[in-house]
Amino acid sequence: MPVSSSVGSAALRSLQGSLVRRSRNLLPLTTLWRSQKTEASPLESRETVDVPTNLENKEYAVRPFEEIPGPKAGLKSIVDFYTKTEGFTKGFKLTDRRFDEYGPIFKQFMINGAAMVHVIDPDDFEKVFRAEGKYPRRPPMDIWVEHRKRRNHFPGVFMSEGEEWHRIRQTIAPKIMRPKIVEENIDNFNAVAEDAIARFVKLKEGCGPDDHIPDLEWEISKWSTESIGTLAFDARLGLYEDPPKQEALKFIEEVQNFFRLSHKLMFSIPSTIARKYVDTPTFKKFLECGDTVLDLGQSFVDRKMKELKEMTEKGIDPSANAQVVPLLTYLLTKEELTPMEVNGHAIDVVAAAVDNTSNSVLWWLYNLARFPHIQEKLYQEVENVVGKDGEITAKSIAKLRFLKACLKESMRLTPVTVGLARIMDQDVVLSGYNVPAQTWVIMELYCTARSEKYFKDPLEFKPERWLRENKDENHAFSNLPFGFGTRMCAGRRVAELEMYVFICKLLQRFRLEYHHEPLELYQKLITVPDKTVKIKFVDRL
Ligand code: HEM
Repeated sequence: MPVSSSVGSAALRSLQGSLVRRSRNLLPLTTLWRSQKTEASPLESRETVDVPTNLENKEYAVRPFEEIPGPKAGLKSIVDFYTKTEGFTKGFKLTDRRFDEYGPIFKQFMINGAAMVHVIDPDDFEKVFRAEGKYPRRPPMDIWVEHRKRRNHFPGVFMSEGEEWHRIRQTIAPKIMRPKIVEENIDNFNAVAEDAIARFVKLKEGCGPDDHIPDLEWEISKWSTESIGTLAFDARLGLYEDPPKQEALKFIEEVQNFFRLSHKLMFSIPSTIARKYVDTPTFKKFLECGDTVLDLGQSFVDRKMKELKEMTEKGIDPSANAQVVPLLTYLLTKEELTPMEVNGHAIDVVAAAVDNTSNSVLWWLYNLARFPHIQEKLYQEVENVVGKDGEITAKSIAKLRFLKACLKESMRLTPVTVGLARIMDQDVVLSGYNVPAQTWVIMELYCTARSEKYFKDPLEFKPERWLRENKDENHAFSNLPFGFGTRMCAGRRVAELEMYVFICKLLQRFRLEYHHEPLELYQKLITVPDKTVKIKFVDRL
């Protein structure tokens, strides 16, 4: 779930809560923060930034919400925000500068005058997650909710709240969250990865001496869609057929358009204002695009239903002898769900998966290509555990420790989600300030990852920092690319498995090189590379 999108939209509830007086004895936190920002040991410095708790009257240690520093409210600040973030495409850079200016916590006012609190300290992340209630809430994706409402469609796991959210999440959890998903899906993921690599080999033949796969981004999106399709729709979508299935191509294009238009709508100030009164042309296009995605999803679901019905008519129990009951069959055979709800679940899984997974892989390829010594170390591990062209199995995945550390590090350095968001359920003290219930709090992962205070050599790609023997070097809450708690990414295991399989297979076949300008993060709904990714694929065979 892209936090950046939630942050830009919708109204904030009125901020209430019991605020306490500021102590005259305390140093301004900004001063403390500045003096520590370049200290080497993350653990030492983290401890000192906390507000003293040994004062006789604890009330005096907590500063009131109003005193949280930050830019002043008003139109100027909003216009400033828009221009300094280059039209909301580089918001994370401005956020980083604001932490330098204000310290580890600041607040920022939105168009509606409400405030949003930003924090960088993993101690604060931990406090937020520990304080989240039984049904954690993220700021809503207003336009997605609006689309489903207008179509009278099932809201799905992303957009639901409270008990309803919990019920929906429990429906899909057994199929995508259990450790067993590795055995259940590895064959499908292997097969799709093989198809993708065979396609790379073919594309490379015609790409000339620079060995760049043309439109690598699109090719990786295809892999990611086909791969998650095997889980969500229990079918091969047909993106690797010759020619590819039109319906599958249309699906992937429309899913991408849906995200592109979502970003455009959420981060355009005129559009946000106009949409209150009228359906703008972009909004209409967005609704149409959402409809097409739902329709195509429904056609996959209907096909599966027909198949299952035919089996039942022939007296065959679809799940009787199957070692694996795929997600769609599982949902369709759960009688309490309507076909529309089943489609909503499947579409949500695809929507959550496609862009996040493909861009995480793209960044991972880039990091490996930029740091050849790391790539070589990883290749050695793959060769030792899996062999030069061996098949990746659940057992081998368990042994690939460096592979896992590499992914974790790539997601730290180049995250697709720059922050996590929660609407607080209760008052919480963050960096010494009282933050009342109902406040939107943004945990700025990107800024934490880039800070010397929390990571030694933060800009280096150093997977070793995530190996078990070094685990005490980093705060447990300093790198949370999949979020945390009961509302964390439901597809983490699936995503990791897909990516492990794909990267292992790719490294068995190719060595990666990068000889161009550094790529920067560019915020769409998630962060993507700001330039075309030109990685050189060199044959290992
Ligand atoms: C590299 C790929 C992925 C990344 C980086 C990612 C990241 C995230 C993040 C940061 C969240 C919000 C967590 C929070 O608020 O604490 C989230 C939510 C979610 N993700 Fe993922 N995700 C990825 C792939 C997937 C896949 C493959 C699936 C499905 C199989 C999936 C399903 C979901 C769902 C259903 C939610 C909403 C959970 C809820 O609201 O209860 N994600 N994801």
